[in-house]
Amino acid sequence: MTGLVDRFGRIATDLRVSLTDKCNLRCTYCMPAEGLAWLPREEQLTDDEVGRLIRIGVERLGIQEVRFTGGEPLLRRGLLEIVAAAARLEPRPRLMLTTNGIGLERIAEELRDAGLDRINVSLDTLDPERFRALTRRDRLDDVLRGLEAAASAGLTPVKVNTVLMRGINEDEAPELLKYALTYGYQLRFIEQMPLDAQHQWDRHTMVTADEILAALEPFGLEADPVSRGTAPAETWLVPGHVDAAGEPARVGVIASVTRPFCGDCDRTRLTADGQIRNCLFATEESDLRKLLRAGASDAEIAEAWRVAMRGKRAGHGIDDPSFLQPARPMSAIGG
Ligand code: 5AD
Ligand code: SF4
Repeated sequence: MTGLVDRFGRIATDLRVSLTDKCNLRCTYCMPAEGLAWLPREEQLTDDEVGRLIRIGVERLGIQEVRFTGGEPLLRRGLLEIVAAAARLEPRPRLMLTTNGIGLERIAEELRDAGLDRINVSLDTLDPERFRALTRRDRLDDVLRGLEAAASAGLTPVKVNTVLMRGINEDEAPELLKYALTYGYQLRFIEQMPLDAQHQWDRHTMVTADEILAALEPFGLEADPVSRGTAPAETWLVPGHVDAAGEPARVGVIASVTRPFCGDCDRTRLTADGQIRNCLFATEESDLRKLLRAGASDAEIAEAWRVAMRGKRAGHGIDDPSFLQPARPMSAIGG
């Protein structure tokens, strides 16, 4: 099988599938308060079309891991069927999902029964007022209950994704880590990236990995003996703590901006409207929906996907003077 190989020898085996661009929060670093147009319904892939592309990825292109994202993937009506169909593929891919946690309490067990292996929940603050300011919705309790439901459903290790923002929640790193340690979740801080719909990101105000690690100094973090592989998170052990499975507790930092890991990237992305993006920051996309709807064979679609990945650039180039933020905001790409 010829997989998804690029000119730099990287092989994409991790597929991120955005199932919708809609969301029930409006995080300030992602979406404007109002006025972001949704994808027209007919442009969104149907459940069967999504299922077919995932199958082609797994059967013909060496995809080993599928992560469902959004917008907010729990808002996708056919979610359980899409997960179940992916779980029936051979060889069975690992199946994960990144959610804001709202509604997770209700659906965590069904997701597990459908075949989901793990979950990541986004949580930037434990303070209800800050949560409301940051997400423009008063839903912190739903998220916390969703996290507990994911852990009791066995969607473990449950990971928590946090973006720290200057003057908003930058002082909360220790509190968030304490909370994660108490519940046995694995916390990962993500440096804020230029993917907001409003294009307000500023390199100079962003909270860096070095600052995050300095804030965590009281925990006496130790180097993680387990190699990072292609994972974007650098991880540390938190001495004196274990996670829900009895493993040493870990905390991670995804330093996308200050310590880019593009050289090890193994990801390929499918948007809810059927476009392949070879990078989060790609400014060009490849239209698989058009091919699908024109009656292309599995082999033809697989070949178009290979071509899309071959053109992947070496890095995101955020620091280049010529860097252009992609037209799609994070909510329409998926993390
Ligand atoms: N920079 C970094 N992370 C982001 N996320 C959303 N927008 C950004 C951004 N601009 C995170 C969310 C979620 C995951 C999908 O990506 O907090 O955890
Ligand atoms: Fe929704 Fe995630 Fe964007 Fe927040 S970051 S608005 S939860 S898609």
